[in-house]
Amino acid sequence: MSTSGGEYLLAGGAAELERLRLQARVWEPEAEAMLDRVGIAPGAHCIDLGCGALGILGPLSRRVGPSGRVVGVDVDAKQLAGARAFVQEAGLSNVEILELDAYRTGLPAQAFDLVHVRFVFAPVGRDGELLREMLRLVRPGGIVAIQEPDASSWTCLPPIPRGIG
Ligand SMILES: C[S@@+](CC[C@H](N)C(=O)[O-])C[C@H]1O[C@@H](n2cnc3c(N)ncnc32)[C@H](O)[C@@H]1O
Repeated sequence: MSTSGGEYLLAGGAAELERLRLQARVWEPEAEAMLDRVGIAPGAHCIDLGCGALGILGPLSRRVGPSGRVVGVDVDAKQLAGARAFVQEAGLSNVEILELDAYRTGLPAQAFDLVHVRFVFAPVGRDGELLREMLRLVRPGGIVAIQEPDASSWTCLPPIPRGIG
């Protein structure tokens, strides 16, 4: 899944669409807990970069309410179609799905109260580039929220000799 070339190797597949739908449901309680902590007011403008087929569009939509706006961004046609189907089926009129490169969206600067990314830094990389775009999109005093795996505490005992694994 990870690539040093900065592209997403699982793109385009039906299996990946299903995997991301399931993943989003499994992680929804974590997303809700995170949003409880950062606080999203009704009327807020939020963006989920690399949202896949679901991302956290549902929780964001519920929190910002009818006066708010949620933008989901992805580049994969299958994920975009899945996200649009989800938005339509769930009747989320405050959510818009855009086909854009998360690393260079071209959206207006400082336009969002919350800029969110989940599971894009780890599989795609180009961290500085993505973080710069997040910081460009968030309004002064807004929130940049990142949900990514942290493997820094992973340990193997006994230690694996160098060159193996
Ligand atoms: C592991 S999935 C995570 C999906 C979603 N954030 C979630 O947590 O369910 C990574 C997503 O990033 C998207 N992606 C990869 N490169 C991208 C880019 N340059 N711009 C926008 N989306 C991208 C992929 O298409 C895929 O939907």
